[in-house]
Amino acid sequence: MTDSPIKNHIYDEAARVWNPGKVALLKDQGIDIVLGDRSGYIFQDVEGQPLINLHINGGVFNLGHCNPEVRQALVEGSLHYDAGNHYFPSQVKNDLCEALLAVSPDYMKYVAFNNGGGESIDAAVKFARHATGRRRVVTVNGAFHGATGIATQAGDPGMAAFFTMTPSPDEFSKVDYDDLDQLEEVLRREDTAAVLIESMPATAGFPVPHDDYLAGVTALAHRYGALYIADEVQTGMMRSGQMWCSVGYGAEPDMIVTGKALSGGYYPMSAVIMNERAGQWLHEDGFAHLSSFNAAELGCVVASKVVEITARESTVGNVATLIDLFTARLGELQQRHCRFFTGVRQRGLIIGLQTAHPEGATALMAALYKHGVWSMRANFDTSVLQFKPGLLMSTALAGDVLDRLDVALDDAARSVGMGEKSAVPA
Ligand SMILES: Cc1ncc(COP(=O)(O)O)c(C=O)c1O
Repeated sequence: MTDSPIKNHIYDEAARVWNPGKVALLKDQGIDIVLGDRSGYIFQDVEGQPLINLHINGGVFNLGHCNPEVRQALVEGSLHYDAGNHYFPSQVKNDLCEALLAVSPDYMKYVAFNNGGGESIDAAVKFARHATGRRRVVTVNGAFHGATGIATQAGDPGMAAFFTMTPSPDEFSKVDYDDLDQLEEVLRREDTAAVLIESMPATAGFPVPHDDYLAGVTALAHRYGALYIADEVQTGMMRSGQMWCSVGYGAEPDMIVTGKALSGGYYPMSAVIMNERAGQWLHEDGFAHLSSFNAAELGCVVASKVVEITARESTVGNVATLIDLFTARLGELQQRHCRFFTGVRQRGLIIGLQTAHPEGATALMAALYKHGVWSMRANFDTSVLQFKPGLLMSTALAGDVLDRLDVALDDAARSVGMGEKSAVPA
């Protein structure tokens, strides 16, 4: 698929010893990336081909690749800290708890740490089941919460069935996103432990909810005795223009799950931020949920730096500038390419580009790749492209990305047979 001997070697070996299925799928889509040098929002292919990263691994590179301040925290931290010991408290763990609580609603009280987002989703559901003594979890169609045990069951039924993990009907219920009536119908049974909702489901292409939806989820969950878990693994950490997307919509979740960005792209780290009710188990048996690397001390040093940079005034200011720029320019591009590019789903820097073709985002992803931008389609709705600028992106680079998008939209529209531009009304 490529004439690069280095890439061919790596892909062939990967097909043998790492993941034949993934390699086959990438080849099928004409993608042959092997990461080379990386810095900020640009990574080079191993052959030196630069790509601007608009996927940022769902937020892992929210602050850019190899962010120098995060790296310094990691390097200096490593002189004093290693994983530490998950049995004992430590100052750096306390500091990270304090930092996360400081950027969360006042009623949040405790933080439990894990390594990845899926693990923290599993943990949050466990905490809700313990707090309520109930088992049912309500999730929305088109959600992805990770590939660990409970998180797999909370997501796409096909993914659970693949590993023979289909939950029993009294364990999980699925409702449509942005539909409070369906949610209430399930909650009326009064056997629900948790309502688990990605504030804007990423894999469904970031549908934008009605303004009062997430506040309504809070009210319904509490009316019927359930806890509300906000999955902010993708939408949190300032991506919406506020620290937590759900809170920005006026919601009051009992738990906020964060991950990805919290790692700074360097040290796996995720967290469940809990109110008193969700953290009830901590008083009864503090050893009930644990793992060797939970709150690894070096990871805490890194994550504290990440929270500090994310909440910093200059970062918030840059995010506001980028939001204005993307809103204005995407609106213009949408008008210019309105036959193919039919809508912008946007909350801050959480952006989905809606196309008129069922495989429009597959085509746009390929066209952007050709023009030096890496972004990914929403896998549960391949008409929508996930478009995720990082918090610290310069306006110059953002402008460059949007110029490339302009050209790529023409190419993508042509490739799905929708090439002709519609006239813009004068
Ligand atoms: C919304 C959401 N929740 C949870 C997860 C799981 O996180 P991880 O891959 O770190 O386990 C993901 C991963 O993509 C996600 O997008």
